[in-house]
Amino acid sequence: MHLGLPTIFLLLLSVVAGEDVYASDPNIYELTPSNFDKVVHKSNYTSIVKFYAPWCGYCKQLTPIYKKLGKFFHKDGQYAVNVVAVNCDKDYNKPLCSKHRVSGFPTLMVFRPPKYNQDKPKPQGVHAMETYSGERSFKSIMNFVNSRIKNYVKKFNNPSSDSLRQWLSNPSTRSKVVLFTESNSIHNMYKSLAIDFLNSTEFSMVTVKDKDSFKQAVADLNLSSITDFPMLFNVQEGELVRFDRPKLDDKLAISKWLIEQNGHLPVEGQLSKKDRYYSKYRGIKEKKPKEDRTEKPKKEAKKKTVHDEL
Ligand SMILES: *[C@@H]1O[C@H](CO)[C@@H](O)[C@H](O)[C@H]1NC(C)=O
Ligand SMILES: *[C@@H]1O[C@H](CO)[C@@H](O)[C@H](O)[C@H]1NC(C)=O
Ligand SMILES: *[C@@H]1O[C@H](CO)[C@@H](O)[C@H](O)[C@H]1NC(C)=O
Repeated sequence: MHLGLPTIFLLLLSVVAGEDVYASDPNIYELTPSNFDKVVHKSNYTSIVKFYAPWCGYCKQLTPIYKKLGKFFHKDGQYAVNVVAVNCDKDYNKPLCSKHRVSGFPTLMVFRPPKYNQDKPKPQGVHAMETYSGERSFKSIMNFVNSRIKNYVKKFNNPSSDSLRQWLSNPSTRSKVVLFTESNSIHNMYKSLAIDFLNSTEFSMVTVKDKDSFKQAVADLNLSSITDFPMLFNVQEGELVRFDRPKLDDKLAISKWLIEQNGHLPVEGQLSKKDRYYSKYRGIKEKKPKEDRTEKPKKEAKKKTVHDEL
């Protein structure tokens, strides 16, 4: 067989198969066939996967954006999203890439988990898979992925409604958390908390639209000390215990507080066993978890964070 020059060139390239681009990125999983299903499918998190080849120009172009996405979704375990990369240049990854019909680089795919119903047997399905074909900008990809996070937060539109009172007083084997806010939409960090504590804690959100309904709710629920929004409460035998921090922008601090309050460990996310176990697939060298990380937020060179509040 006669090999043309381009073919020889390609062969050479694959001999020196490029190293994994994200191998040292603490927010991105470089996956292989042996761990892809575990991380992507055995999770209630949504995953975005970049199938790439290290030599491809468009892949390189996307690299800084993808790193930024990793930081946005995964840093401090903020959102229920795994940011994943698969290096299709590696021979051992080729079956994974062809299984997903990757025909050009980079291919971005989003994997959405099946809805889990706490009161029914486990759903059997695997995650729904979609190819992302929108604009390859941070904002556009971020919005798309955000829209694919599953919601387990129960929403009430009126703080004086009977349905809220019922929900608060109904006995349940699970713990309950309620957020009062002026916002109408459910913040992704809050959705993410609900996923981390799925099956042990129920999360709800109450939209308070005006002063009058707020006053009424304060009276109805005996929350006389409450003056501002948003407010997060743990419900203990009908009593509401407030999360006593001025800001609700630190998921780790909220998670720790919930563990203290109710004694349930999250199944996913930063404080879960699962996360510690899977962190080996990200660019993280096993390090000892620092206990007081949230107690003393580092005052390091006031970095602008992208995370907003609940
Ligand atoms: C979702 O969470 C529930 C409760 O922890 C768990 O039983 C179920 O297996 C999870 N689903 C997936 C796809 O991992
Ligand atoms: C959900 O939680 C209940 C009670 O804590 C437990 O018995 C059950 O096994 C859990 N279900 C799943 C699917 O994790
Ligand atoms: C509010 O307080 C009053 C009097 O202390 C009590 O009777 C009532 O049951 C309380 N309501 C709720 C919702 O806890």
